[in-house]
Amino acid sequence: MEKKDIDWGNLGFGYMKTDYRYVSNFKNGAWDEGALITDATVSISECACVLQYAQTVFEGMKAYTTEDGRIVTFRPDLNAERMENSARRLQMPVFPKERFVDAVVQTVKANTNVVPPYGSGATLYIRPYMFGTNPVIGVKPADEYQFRVFTTPVGPYFKGGVKPLTIRVCDYDRAAPRGTGHIKAGLNYAMSLYAIVDAHNQGFDENMYLDSATRTKVEETGGANFLFVTKDGKVVTPKSSTILPSITRRSLLHVAKEYLGLEVEEREVFFDEVKDFAEAGLCGTAAVISPVGKIVDHGKEICLPSGMTQMGPVTQKLYDTLTGIQMGRLEAPEGWLKVIE
Ligand code: PLP
Ligand code: COI
Repeated sequence: MEKKDIDWGNLGFGYMKTDYRYVSNFKNGAWDEGALITDATVSISECACVLQYAQTVFEGMKAYTTEDGRIVTFRPDLNAERMENSARRLQMPVFPKERFVDAVVQTVKANTNVVPPYGSGATLYIRPYMFGTNPVIGVKPADEYQFRVFTTPVGPYFKGGVKPLTIRVCDYDRAAPRGTGHIKAGLNYAMSLYAIVDAHNQGFDENMYLDSATRTKVEETGGANFLFVTKDGKVVTPKSSTILPSITRRSLLHVAKEYLGLEVEEREVFFDEVKDFAEAGLCGTAAVISPVGKIVDHGKEICLPSGMTQMGPVTQKLYDTLTGIQMGRLEAPEGWLKVIE
């Protein structure tokens, strides 16, 4: 398929309407067969549960063009499983895993004219999501739902690409113990909007959220998990029941161990330890791995030894290996790449 005339190298992380999206509706206890459509608008009741009570969950994943010209997605089965968990927590019906993967494949296939070429620096972001559609005014789950998948070509999530970020310790909380921090619910992002606008207004790129129970442990940012590297080269990542189980982070831990022979630790990370790390980064589908150069705690600066001009050496190796697998330059572990065409 001929590619659309897009300046791939200058794309930011934004929405661009593409030709096709997948839609399936849930009614009378069952999902319909689903279809690709061209209409990018959604028409639902003014009293839809999603509009009144934020009953919506989503996923984020990417399609890549590999060095040898295939189009692939990365571990879509894990996105499907995470969406199942998200849906259950919000009393929504599960969209079956095989159908989820098939819907993603169909949507990407229909939009290959906007899958960025290999080496362009851009990727096709894929957004599966689901929401309660029928009118609900008393607080209760909807009976009818819509599952959709759209795609949009994107560049780096953070302006400046891989320039190290400055983040601040946030005074607001993202997730409560036994709340919804571990699922990908729209509501988690709604309540982070005030904090992210405030962070940007104060000149920071992102918020570092601490655990809301004790405010002593590092959790994550609004849209990515943390990775740290110790001075002796160990990869450390926070373990918490109130952070999103990032597929990128889980993949990076495997890469660190199995491809790079590094020691890895998934454990509670106390904020007090952060000053002793050699490198820090944010990891996620959108963020890939974005290095952190400085963390500011109410005026007190922690400057990571890796500095403000480039990624630290271990972060760089992790980045190169992960993106090498995603772009087909390095052999992927069994089942990690789903070839679309
Ligand atoms: N944490 C949050 C809050 C996120 O929104 C995301 C993005 O999906 C991540 C972490 C990273 O998860 P993943 O690597 O699965 O994209
Ligand atoms: C992602 O990395 O896919 C995310 O969902 C992060 C953000 C855009 C919400």
